[in-house]
Amino acid sequence: MCGIVGYIGENAAKDILLQGLKNLEYRGYDSAGVALNDNETTSVYKAQGKLDNLCSLLNRVQLKPSARGIGHIRWATHGAATETNAHPHKSNDGKLVLVHNGIIENFRELRQELEKQGFRFYSQTDTETAVHLIDREYKKCGNLEQAVINAVALLKGAFAFCIMHDDEPDKIIAVRKNAPLLVGLGNNENMIASDVPALIGKVNRIIYLEDNEIAIVHRCFVEVKNFAGDVVEKKIENLAFEPELISKRGYAHFMLKEINEQPSIIRRQLAEYFTDNGEIKLGNIDLMALMQAVDKIEIVACGSSLHAAMTAKYMIEELAHIPVMVESASEYIYKYNLTDDKTLVIGISQSGETADTITALKQAKQKNAKILVLTNREDSSIVRYADFVLPLKAGIEVSVAATKSYTAQLMLLYLLALKLAQMRLGMNDKLRKLKEELFEVPAKIEQVLCQTNLIKTCAEKYAKAQDYIFIGRGISYPSVMEGALKLKEISYINANAYTAGELKHGPIALVDEKMPVVAVLTKDNLLYDKMISNCQEVKARKGKIIAVTNDAAHQDMFDDIILLPKSSSELMPLLIAPALQLLAYYTALSLGREVDQPRNLAKSVTVE
Ligand code: AGP
Repeated sequence: MCGIVGYIGENAAKDILLQGLKNLEYRGYDSAGVALNDNETTSVYKAQGKLDNLCSLLNRVQLKPSARGIGHIRWATHGAATETNAHPHKSNDGKLVLVHNGIIENFRELRQELEKQGFRFYSQTDTETAVHLIDREYKKCGNLEQAVINAVALLKGAFAFCIMHDDEPDKIIAVRKNAPLLVGLGNNENMIASDVPALIGKVNRIIYLEDNEIAIVHRCFVEVKNFAGDVVEKKIENLAFEPELISKRGYAHFMLKEINEQPSIIRRQLAEYFTDNGEIKLGNIDLMALMQAVDKIEIVACGSSLHAAMTAKYMIEELAHIPVMVESASEYIYKYNLTDDKTLVIGISQSGETADTITALKQAKQKNAKILVLTNREDSSIVRYADFVLPLKAGIEVSVAATKSYTAQLMLLYLLALKLAQMRLGMNDKLRKLKEELFEVPAKIEQVLCQTNLIKTCAEKYAKAQDYIFIGRGISYPSVMEGALKLKEISYINANAYTAGELKHGPIALVDEKMPVVAVLTKDNLLYDKMISNCQEVKARKGKIIAVTNDAAHQDMFDDIILLPKSSSELMPLLIAPALQLLAYYTALSLGREVDQPRNLAKSVTVE
């Protein structure tokens, strides 16, 4: 979603801000802007669309040297993605500029009040309210820090701000409430950013701001205070990310690189989460004690993480016989639910910044539930609400479409399910076999990746389709939901997933000779036979079947077949995922889509 970068130091702010914004581009945005201060005045430059448009604009204008500035990429919420609505926004006298991530919920009331007081608004954003509010307070007290403290007390919602004022040229003020923000420390230069990649290669010491904190960032020092104005002692942490982590390493897209990283990530997870004597060890979580304290499990997540959660429900219920409720975090927040102090609530989030998932966990915490978080970002906001954290260890995921983080989530959830099963039912042959099979997964994913050319041909064959249907049964059902989501988000083809048994209750009306139907069939007697029948039903309506299966029989009834390695049906989701990721990738590629940054989407969805 939106991204913030700020710089104060001795070097050219423009270049540092643009590089920082470039490193945040992957998060998804639709306009960009910077404010550059030359020690006397501040100039604001904004452009609709990609960062390149802003760079061209900056190349066309005569810029004065400036070593202080703030920059932003915006993902439109209030008002269209126009140049006027892009950040930074400035006060009516042009002296105060501000960039904002998050949503100011009471902006309407405040805007009316400020308009009555004579402030002129130019944009439709909620953000401009904050500019005029701080400006009003500044005009009363003549001190930027105090003006910010006064103003934030009047704001409701989520905000991370970076603020500069011409009359206080020695500082940038950073504010955090329910939206991530951090300060990067350098030598005679300091930075502010909404996420770590903006700082990579520039500074390597950081301060994570907490909610309700303000950082007064000078060139040579930084002071952090709370919203009451009291000084807060902050820990300085070393930045653990290398520039290499955000490079495509020769791949055409981050998505393709990330799909191909999956075998090595799973090997890394197996090394991390298995002891030398073959026992599953989930960090320092005492699962036995934890499970004695709870009587049910609830999982909350969104998007691909939600599909991983749905897969986990099948695994845990089938293997460990523990009931699991899975809820979309955005639904969980607003419905009556049974969460209490005897509930283990598992929050799954790649980014750790998804607002819906964080709010759901906050609510669960208020009910004294035990909170376990699975995230790829141990430095993210979600970790604050966790009693226990299981890091995915998948490395930064840059492409908006989740791929490697999804399989990493599945793998960790398998380990959790197996551990729970072993604890509850004791070791048995099935569990022993599944545990052994986990170690074969990386090589099996490699076998799937070897079929890239075949999958590419198949994707190109159906790339002009208007719609796609995905069907699966049992534990494969969340996998087809994930396959359909992948295809939708990067190719913009309408794709719907159904349990195969539901097809005949309505969706089959859509099937004709133009409809590709991706059917996932895994060899486990009952479900396989039922799937074959469902495929017959599709064939009888002339639908085109792309079978994703681990069984070579019945080939003649399929139009295309992606053959997966043999595996227990429980582990098939780990093999289905890369096949369907490649199908989506090559479909999008053949349609000329922007694979890594699909339209309208953001990598971390920081608004509810
Ligand atoms: C998946 O490809 C997505 N782009 C999206 O659905 C994502 O999984 C969702 O927004 C949740 O994100 P999180 O895992 O970072 O919480």
